[in-house]
Amino acid sequence: MEKLKQRILQDGRALDGGILKVDSFLNHQLDPNLMMEIARNFAVRLADKPINKIVTIEASGIAPAVMLGYVMQLPVVFVKKKAPLTMENMLVREVFSFTKNRVYTVSISQDFLTENDHVVFIDDFLANGNAARGIIDLCAQSGSTIEAMGFVIEKGFQKGGDALRAEGYDVVSLAIIDSLENNEIKFRE
Ligand code: G4P
Repeated sequence: MEKLKQRILQDGRALDGGILKVDSFLNHQLDPNLMMEIARNFAVRLADKPINKIVTIEASGIAPAVMLGYVMQLPVVFVKKKAPLTMENMLVREVFSFTKNRVYTVSISQDFLTENDHVVFIDDFLANGNAARGIIDLCAQSGSTIEAMGFVIEKGFQKGGDALRAEGYDVVSLAIIDSLENNEIKFRE
């Protein structure tokens, strides 16, 4: 998505350690016009899928997911990153974050994810794919089907995207970054 790439070049910053700072428009301050364009791009790329639900994970996935829900007129449910107070009716899984070097618990109510659901998982970043693994597991527990996964930014130099595609998942990334070396942002062609 050309407009997104331009915005990343204009306002993003490549930090040491392969981290891209995009908090002025994507995951702290939000640009709703860009977010709507992101949603429209996802909607075009997902048009041939029998999706009936959008699943995301708090916090930063919620903004693009809810915009996509508006565009596609579908419900949006976000996976929580806290252990539930009661396990009743909750599906739960542990996820390890490399970027943050910690384990967290993700959970979702079985009321909102069932065997009738055909899901697209939406998130802001795809890095190592650990969040996606957590979602895959929650969907398996619920009996729902993952039709596709959509990421605003994929860090192609980390292994999440390649591994998910090799397993047959339909991964849609609107901007794929191949390198942040020397603090320079390079996109995949
Ligand atoms: P993975 O899910 O693809 O394996 O990613 P990983 O565990 O390595 O990343 C954990 C968190 O770090 C995620 O946010 C992810 O969006 C974020 N992240 C990964 N790489 C970058 C990056 O280059 N720049 C920025 N800004 N974020 C990155 P999170 O902890 O779940 O936070 P949030 O959704 O609550 O914001």
